[in-house]
Amino acid sequence: MSESRESRPRRFLVCEPRHFAVQYAINPWMNPDRPVDVDLAREQWQELIRVYRAHGHTVDAVEPVPGLPDMVFAANAACVVGGRVFGSLFHAPERRPESLHYDTWFKTAGYTVYRPEAVSEGEGDLVWTGRYVLAGTGFRTTREAHREAQEFLGHPVIGLTLVDPYFYHLDTALFVLDDANVCYYPEAFSPGSREVLRRLFPDAVEATREDAMSWGLNSVSDGRHVFIAPQAEALSARLADHGYVPVPVDLSEFHKAGGGIKCCTQEIR
Ligand code: ARG
Repeated sequence: MSESRESRPRRFLVCEPRHFAVQYAINPWMNPDRPVDVDLAREQWQELIRVYRAHGHTVDAVEPVPGLPDMVFAANAACVVGGRVFGSLFHAPERRPESLHYDTWFKTAGYTVYRPEAVSEGEGDLVWTGRYVLAGTGFRTTREAHREAQEFLGHPVIGLTLVDPYFYHLDTALFVLDDANVCYYPEAFSPGSREVLRRLFPDAVEATREDAMSWGLNSVSDGRHVFIAPQAEALSARLADHGYVPVPVDLSEFHKAGGGIKCCTQEIR
């Protein structure tokens, strides 16, 4: 495809993996007996930040807190649209304290934060497409939180049911390419949700289970560059055919915790 895609500069919020570890198992990827190489994790993460900045994006960081090993997954802490911060309430008790630290960062930066009453894991499940919010449920974020998000953000929230425990967050099964299109793995969704996605995005780039298992859908796109796991080779090639520019960034150590590039990246809009 010859059309040239345009990138838009983004503002990202991240959290350094200083205290990153796999100490408990709250998704099928996590095994506390399998050690994480903390130094390698830090190098991989620093490379992600370097690559974002090299592509013209702004990166802000929240100070990591000891005892919160998953705090590096900044995407889960909030969903920000039009300066409105819809905070988080984690499903796992181990992760609940993270919300407060992120809320404090937002308040210090001058935002007011809405704290959901129902379980809601930020951009892990609430994905802004430029027109509405696609909202995952089934494993973490609840339908009740979708309702709260719609009420607070004032944008349509479209519920989608996830059915495969390996893709427990919406951002492990779908990512937004640009204001018009998404890329997703259909079988991660219930039949009805699949149909909804097909109606909304008839030209979507479809992914296979292999693409999803190699973390290809936990990607960040700026409209032109797609920051994507190098393991997702086949999907990268398909995205290139569609005129996007894949930028491989390896976060293999984070895959051991059930996270990848998007999980480590929250976008402030
Ligand atoms: N260990 C974390 C959890 O299970 C990983 C979160 C990954 N984040 C994401 N946006 N999918 O909660």
